[in-house]
Amino acid sequence: MEIAKDIYNVGVNDYNVKLFESQYPLENGMAYNSYLIIDEKIALLDTVEKDLKDEWLNNIKSILKERKIDYLIIHHMEPDHSSNILSIVNEYKDITIVATSKAFSMMKNFFDNEFLDQRIVIKDNDELNLGKHTLKFFLAPMVHWPEVMMSYEKESKILFSSDAFGKFGTNDLKEDWEDEARRYYYGIVGKYGKQVQLVFKKLEGLDIATIASLHGPILNENLDKYFNYYKLWSNLEEEEKGAVIVYASIYGHTDEAAYYLFNKLNEKGYKAKTINLVKEDIFKAVSDAFCYSTIIIATVTYNNDILPKMKMFINMLKERNYQNRNVGIIENGSWAPNANNVIKSMLSSSLNINYLEPVVTLSSVLKDNNKNQIDNLVNNIIKEER
Ligand code: FEO
Repeated sequence: MEIAKDIYNVGVNDYNVKLFESQYPLENGMAYNSYLIIDEKIALLDTVEKDLKDEWLNNIKSILKERKIDYLIIHHMEPDHSSNILSIVNEYKDITIVATSKAFSMMKNFFDNEFLDQRIVIKDNDELNLGKHTLKFFLAPMVHWPEVMMSYEKESKILFSSDAFGKFGTNDLKEDWEDEARRYYYGIVGKYGKQVQLVFKKLEGLDIATIASLHGPILNENLDKYFNYYKLWSNLEEEEKGAVIVYASIYGHTDEAAYYLFNKLNEKGYKAKTINLVKEDIFKAVSDAFCYSTIIIATVTYNNDILPKMKMFINMLKERNYQNRNVGIIENGSWAPNANNVIKSMLSSSLNINYLEPVVTLSSVLKDNNKNQIDNLVNNIIKEER
């Protein structure tokens, strides 16, 4: 696909992959983008996942015909983009690899070769002229690996953004960008919001017409929308007033309390959604937790602790610096409910958490006194909206 004059996406869609990075569930596969710039010099930007090598090489050769690639530019060394470096070097023996010094150290680790005789080591603001096209490089450390860089092609005003602005799903899907981009961001990049902002400072003043990420669609309209989402996400700011009720139950009684709460919020016209952590994607729960102003955690007590999957979920929030949100708790326990203490202890280092009263404590099943507690909690969820 030509994304601008003489610039092609030669990447591939993987329709079969069910888990990205062995953990993120994929309902609609994954796209691995790779770009080819045809000019006096020819540059290939990044490679693709190793199993898709043949299709990708065919894409490249159908455009190149007999011409050779001069530069292989590596923005990111995670294997979904780097695992075919040797395939290209073997095919185009005179190629020069263009990457950061950290990327070459990683090539040494992955391939036992740091390409000393055929490389250009990139520093911030370096440029590479291909003829009509010139790439300017911006180091983007820890977005989300240390060796990452982005590049800006001046002629066509394309930002090659590495993983940033990527999403899950193949590129031929007709779906909105934000849900799967948000799940991707908070899952993969979310810990490194400050680093995202540092890169955006470097990019200030660039006239960007197109964002070409390593995953997902080419973005070339209404770019403010995408930058605004990344500004919110990297600042860990809420997107919407509303509550996500994340619940984990063993025999269904905690579910019942979660749904009682959900229905009461609905009756009052307050936006709410539920996620059954036992059955649904934990990364969806993480991205929703950051999306909304309020989270209600509903869980059983287990081994004087909480259910392991709920523990994993709260740890994921902590790792990603969860903060500035309202948190309500529904705990359950047949002889010694303790989830409230465990959750508050786990979140003790999180900044500006506003705990909503009352904590709802079930002794085994949802009773009338619990319903009264939840009714009060509903009033406070709505009142505390900020
Ligand atoms: Fe798509 Fe961080 O690799």
